[in-house]
Amino acid sequence: MSKVVVFGAGGKAGRAVVTEALSRGHEVTAVVRDPAKYEDLASARVQVVAGDITNVRSVAAAAEGHDIAISAVYDASSAPEPFFVGAAHALLESLPQAGVRRALIIGLVSNLEFAPGQRIMDGPDFPEAFLEFSKGHAAGLEVFRSATTDLDWLVVTPPMVLDEAERTGTYRVGGDQLLTKEDGTSHLSYADLAVALLDEAETPKHHKTRISVAD
Ligand SMILES: NC(=O)c1ccc[n+]([C@@H]2O[C@H](COP(=O)([O-])OP(=O)(O)OC[C@H]3O[C@@H](n4cnc5c(N)ncnc54)[C@H](OP(=O)(O)O)[C@@H]3O)[C@@H](O)[C@H]2O)c1
Repeated sequence: MSKVVVFGAGGKAGRAVVTEALSRGHEVTAVVRDPAKYEDLASARVQVVAGDITNVRSVAAAAEGHDIAISAVYDASSAPEPFFVGAAHALLESLPQAGVRRALIIGLVSNLEFAPGQRIMDGPDFPEAFLEFSKGHAAGLEVFRSATTDLDWLVVTPPMVLDEAERTGTYRVGGDQLLTKEDGTSHLSYADLAVALLDEAETPKHHKTRISVAD
């Protein structure tokens, strides 16, 4: 059994991670901004605490005493680049201080490549409405990639469609390229994203890099 701290535990991905971690017998600290909104998350093995992933002290306080941190955050009310860059810096600074050696961060599909060296977000048909958000996520990824750190980080990037489909317990792993099926679709459920994250938590296979996952 490990102690897992989940940032963004009240969100769709965060809840799937909490469920998967509990099913494997781990203890979870669920970090949310306002615990009063998330009383349903608390149970015998889930402690709900207040925390802000962009704040170094707050991350360190929430993470102290845990084996692994998982970040599943998104804030529609913040400018994306400062948010994801700030979160990356806060994790890189605070987790080693707090004694946490491994961090898994959920990434964004649009900075995967659809062809060698060509990111989806740089393609000619990429929707303008998603560009700022995509740039923010990509900037957060670059903070990890350029960091000199002892933290064993891994950005786990979902495919094009991430949805509430049932858990299958299976997934494929790729690198910087988008994983698709023969028909061109690219899909995973939140539940199976959580399986991939907990597999990497329990048996680390990828280190200081980014992987893509899909069904
Ligand atoms: N296809 C794809 O690539 C794809 C698809 C979906 C999601 N994603 C990524 O997966 C991650 C999780 O997405 P999701 O769908 O689970 O989003 P979500 O349901 O909106 O959950 C995000 C959570 O982040 C929390 N949060 C926001 N600001 C925070 C802060 N400063 N400190 C701590 N927690 C904070 C929110 O909590 P409160 O607001 O309640 O405090 C919310 O519960 C995001 O990075 C998202 O971009 C990728």
